[in-house]
Amino acid sequence: MNRNEFLAALGISSASVILTTCLGCSKSSGGISPSDPPRNIDFTLDLTASANAALLTNGGYLTSNGVIVAKTSAGAYIAVQQSCTHESYPLNYQASSHQFYCNNHGATFSEDGSLSNGPASRSLTVYKTQLTGTSLRIYA
Ligand code: FES
Repeated sequence: MNRNEFLAALGISSASVILTTCLGCSKSSGGISPSDPPRNIDFTLDLTASANAALLTNGGYLTSNGVIVAKTSAGAYIAVQQSCTHESYPLNYQASSHQFYCNNHGATFSEDGSLSNGPASRSLTVYKTQLTGTSLRIYA
């Protein structure tokens, strides 16, 4: 018995199997696209922890909870979505160029999250930062 005969025996056509499979991965089914920025962001980083030591140096950055958290060359804390708005590749922070850079196709974004060079077509989601003592809160 081949595949079509097997499906026919079950009363199912090949087309309905394909349709069911595709519906399961559709964004309209409630799933989140890989390029969607994280929502409801609200977390705190302890700057005394060794895992967060990169944020003690101007130009340092780390990623956490789908967010790039960086300390600019001027010493300000900034936070944007980690994934590129083009095809969701993880971004890097380049303090010397004051930008976020995508190694995949070369898109660049300013430190304020705005798109500065394609092929991405939209800006990054930016999160707020608040430093209290040695605790850095990142939130939407
Ligand atoms: S995935 Fe970033 S530019 Fe294409």
